[in-house]
Amino acid sequence: MNRPDPVSALTVSADPVIKAPSYIRHERLLNWVRDFARRTSPSNIVWCDGSEAEYDRLCAAMVGTGTLVRLNAEKRPNSYLARSDPSDVARVEDRTFICSNREEDAGPTNNWVAPAEMRKTLEQLFEGSMHGRTLYVIPFSMGPLGSPIAHIGVQLTDSPYVVASMKLMTRMGRSVYDVLGPDGVFVPCVHSVGAPLAEGEKDVAWPCNSEHKYIVHFPETREIWSYGSGYGGNALLGKKCFALRIASVMGRDEGWLAEHMLILGVTSPEGRKTYVTAAFPSACGKTNFAMLIPPQGLDSWKVTTIGDDIAWIKPHADGCFHAINPEAGYFGVAPGTSYESNPNAMETLKRNVIFTNVALTDDGDVWWEGMTREPPAHLIDWRGESWTPELARETGRKAAHPNARFTVSATQCPSLDPEWDNPAGVPISAFIFGARRSDTVPLVVEAANWEDGVYKAATMGSETTAAAAGKVGEVRRDPFAMLPFCGYHIGDYFAHWLAMVKTVKNPPRIFNVNWFRTDQSGKFAWPGFGQNMRVLKWIIERCQGKAHAVQTPLGLQPEYADLDWRGLEFGPERFATVMRLDDARWQSELAAHDELFAKLGAKQPPVFAAQRRQLGARFPV
Ligand code: OXD
Ligand code: MN
Repeated sequence: MNRPDPVSALTVSADPVIKAPSYIRHERLLNWVRDFARRTSPSNIVWCDGSEAEYDRLCAAMVGTGTLVRLNAEKRPNSYLARSDPSDVARVEDRTFICSNREEDAGPTNNWVAPAEMRKTLEQLFEGSMHGRTLYVIPFSMGPLGSPIAHIGVQLTDSPYVVASMKLMTRMGRSVYDVLGPDGVFVPCVHSVGAPLAEGEKDVAWPCNSEHKYIVHFPETREIWSYGSGYGGNALLGKKCFALRIASVMGRDEGWLAEHMLILGVTSPEGRKTYVTAAFPSACGKTNFAMLIPPQGLDSWKVTTIGDDIAWIKPHADGCFHAINPEAGYFGVAPGTSYESNPNAMETLKRNVIFTNVALTDDGDVWWEGMTREPPAHLIDWRGESWTPELARETGRKAAHPNARFTVSATQCPSLDPEWDNPAGVPISAFIFGARRSDTVPLVVEAANWEDGVYKAATMGSETTAAAAGKVGEVRRDPFAMLPFCGYHIGDYFAHWLAMVKTVKNPPRIFNVNWFRTDQSGKFAWPGFGQNMRVLKWIIERCQGKAHAVQTPLGLQPEYADLDWRGLEFGPERFATVMRLDDARWQSELAAHDELFAKLGAKQPPVFAAQRRQLGARFPV
């Protein structure tokens, strides 16, 4: 692509910042936008106000340019389909960088480049990168606007798809400037799809840069720079970049936690409410768990949703950790979502949705693998090509990309918890850590104590999914489900978790779960979805000191009779299959822990060595 001449480009955007609305009184912000506009040479600047009218205008414009397809208004009102470039379908972990001043502060699980060197690279890439495009200024709040636990960000982007998505995913708009006032603190987030348009050049539906992608974080200055991708986690900078990578650094410095966790409430038949958080790696069913509908037999229990992906957790004066969901929408994995697996999600998706990389039906609605038992006879697949079930059988071609997503506002969720927007957050009774493991890891185990729980979360392994570019199905260590999201040295992160227990009188209990164990024929041995309520009920009752558990080599586990089986035929042998601890498998699991610890060097918390020794003795070779 021809790079535009930066001098002539500058004349196109002759000091566009002059047109900034008068309600923005923040000089530093204005200067920052002006400098960035000079660098990137957009032909126009739009100061987003977050209104419905603005959203509708943007979507209509994107329909005009082919970025969005408007869905059939009778089937899916006010909803759109975006098809990304086939090379831009997932987070790019190998192109994600933590550019701390010292390499050792990024640690062994992050890519690091010296900040000065990275700044040079980015400055070159961003030079003229918005030529021929519009620069949008997006003010947003992560967490309830004006809440003492919320933080503000401003994203500059040349992608209208990002603007519309940020409107659904965050509290975005003009009122953020009222909170910021003339000198409030905000996290500056800059993003370009990296596809400047030469004079007269025709745009494509999904501009991105197939050669250069950089998702960069400067933790000391709390800045985010993203280049080359228009896809969710790479481009909606409030989410993974801010609410996890930068916020985890804020949490380390300020005494709180930013975690890759859903938050849900459980109401018992007696009306007692308990909140738990649960960390799972990407695309391992967090949205389904957060919106769980209790199954037959346990239908006098109720689950309500605070969040499905991220939790900010702080010690509260009442002696508990309180959690808020910093997001305001769901960016969920579509494939596998159905009225069987997640009816609440399906209801949430009835209107006002942006779908990305799902299939289009002949009557203008959407479809993805797993939505219905039988696929429609004909579809347009996520690449925009004709698709039939026969073709799929012959070629294995999926109608929807395995990482196809929906973007929708949380307020549409029927199970939304009334406290979801409470600035004080909700008190947490349990931290649940789950992974995707076809073997080795049992259905559920409770940690003996905080240190044991932190050890278990730190050493968690999970099979990789389509949420990140790369191989699917390989077991990798994914500590706290934060491997791609911790913005600093993972050994320091473990130490931070170990220390946080001292900040509350009533620390939550810690549990591990695994819904994904398979039987000899390779089928899932546990029915999952709504049936996970049986495990959740046991967890809640453990927190209340009611449920029974036995000591096993791994921790505290239920016996068959300790789970409530009303309404489900699931005998003791099947239960044994999902709970079995195999000595040989655990020996190799522990060897994988050692590989992780070897990377930590002196930053391995001393208590981990003792935990590891004890586990080794309990699983004899
Ligand atoms: C997500 C992810 O999009 O974890 O939530 O990849
Ligand atoms: Mn996630």
